[in-house]
Amino acid sequence: MSETIGVFVAWPYANGDLHLGHVAGVYIPADTFARYHRLRGNRVLMVSGSDAHGTPITVAAEREGVTPEDIFKRYHRRFLETYQQLGISFDLFTHTHTQNHFRVSQDIFRTLYERGYIFTQTQIQLYCEYDRRFLPDRYVEGTCPYCGYPNARGDQCDNCGRTLDAIELIDPRCRLCGRRPVPRETEHFFFDLPAFTDRLLAYLDRQTHWRPNVQHFVRNFIQDGLKPRPVSRDLEWGIPLPIPGYEQKVMYVWFEAVIGYLSASIEWALAENRPGAWETWWRDPAARGYYFIGKDNIPFHAIIWPAELMGYDETLNVPYDIPANEFLNLEGQQFSTSRNWAIWVPDFLSRYAPDPLRDYLTSIAPESRDSEFTWQGFLERNNNELLATWGNLVHRILTFVHTRFAGRVPEPREFDGRDRLLLDQIATGFQRVGELYERVELKAAQREAMALAREVNRYLDEKAPWFQIREDRQAAATTLFVALRAIDSLKLLLAPILPFSSEQLHHMLGYTEPLFGELVIEPGPETGGHEVLRYRPAPSEGRNRWVPSTLETGRPLPPPQPLYQKLDEGIVEQERQRLLAQSR
Ligand code: MF3
Ligand code: ZN
Repeated sequence: MSETIGVFVAWPYANGDLHLGHVAGVYIPADTFARYHRLRGNRVLMVSGSDAHGTPITVAAEREGVTPEDIFKRYHRRFLETYQQLGISFDLFTHTHTQNHFRVSQDIFRTLYERGYIFTQTQIQLYCEYDRRFLPDRYVEGTCPYCGYPNARGDQCDNCGRTLDAIELIDPRCRLCGRRPVPRETEHFFFDLPAFTDRLLAYLDRQTHWRPNVQHFVRNFIQDGLKPRPVSRDLEWGIPLPIPGYEQKVMYVWFEAVIGYLSASIEWALAENRPGAWETWWRDPAARGYYFIGKDNIPFHAIIWPAELMGYDETLNVPYDIPANEFLNLEGQQFSTSRNWAIWVPDFLSRYAPDPLRDYLTSIAPESRDSEFTWQGFLERNNNELLATWGNLVHRILTFVHTRFAGRVPEPREFDGRDRLLLDQIATGFQRVGELYERVELKAAQREAMALAREVNRYLDEKAPWFQIREDRQAAATTLFVALRAIDSLKLLLAPILPFSSEQLHHMLGYTEPLFGELVIEPGPETGGHEVLRYRPAPSEGRNRWVPSTLETGRPLPPPQPLYQKLDEGIVEQERQRLLAQSR
């Protein structure tokens, strides 16, 4: 029975390029999980888009002297290209500045307002008398009341990670003019989170499959007492409130961005010309939605989004799992956009292939604690593991078949115990590795698959077909046949992590239908044509391909090409210098 799997991925703010921290914690895990389910023949819908609104965008625009629209369009376009290059197989990557998203968000806001889950209240906010405006979120900076960090933002402290209300900042300063803002009363809309306390606790009680850190975080958050959250802002950029008389206010960016999961699913269905197709993922109670996010996003996905859904339409599916990741650090320090202590993905991909990156980032995935990218680590992983254990194994087998068996899958004789042992280990691997992918234990899945590659190396060393062939050609043929089936199977086990090189190997094993589909950048379904990224599935998708190889005797194989390149030791110093030179 095929399953229905939603892969819902955090929406990046379109105010700067993606760095390795983003892709390690969110996009690569999401894509790995999605591709695993695609190979299983399950119904996968993976959506996300650029987060186009909020003060992260308007502040960046003001700093550059351009419009928020300019900023978000520039980075949206770059995101499409980056995800395409990295092979993040979004069924749809759109953005939050579409008519469709406005419509869905306004409908949810209005419905919650009419049901009394959103109400108005006067509130004290910081106002800059010089700039004559209220200063929401990132328009204020000051000292964090919790940790004393002097450059905390009005919405969050980057040092201790706490979410803040600008009014709590010690010594606040206006981000526009540097002056001290004053408290002033204004009317705002609040989402009544406390009204959902019991429903949220009951929901949480059922989520025993969540990662323990996520469960604990959410339970503490609810038990600390939920407070009404302000969900309107005095900004010109964003989605206007659908409430007569308040159209000059916009929705708080987080309130509407999470709605993107639903609106993008609807947009995807429109683009497919099957307008009702989104409901499969949102209304079938057996469908499971997985939300791939960083740990700083947990409250929005595990509390606010479920509450919005519960208040809006009880029949819509709330998140099934939220495998939030911890953070990735870089060469001993936190990633910092402002200090430019970061490796930007477009820059990285201009010098290195995507699969070695996906492989290394999976091996150090911050699944249960923060982890660290180092250039030395990248080099070692590429040369000593990806290449030494897997790439060379494949190359050894394929070149042998080409030089000694005329490039055709050799005909085996009856298997001996050693042959059967290897093929059994690999068959069991489909079960074990599959379960790990399913549980989003991607690092462990990778470890198991690579352990099997080591088993194939051991098998070859024991059988030594290069000696066998001198005395007993049929024995060598059997070994190569078994080895070819083994790497054909391992190709699948690794494909969710290594889609490009697995596709290449798939071709070198003589298959004519591709494993995966293609990513295309094209106009979205709306008139006015915003650009989106879309995954076009391969013809074979929908069938369960998560099965051991049945590669047949006699099949001609195209000439082999190496899957990976050895990296020179010198890159470590070069790249460290580059990082130091670019940072401030
Ligand atoms: N833009 C937010 C960030 O970069 C994430 C938004 S996720 C969403 O942290 F679901 F709210 F869209
Ligand atoms: Zn000011």
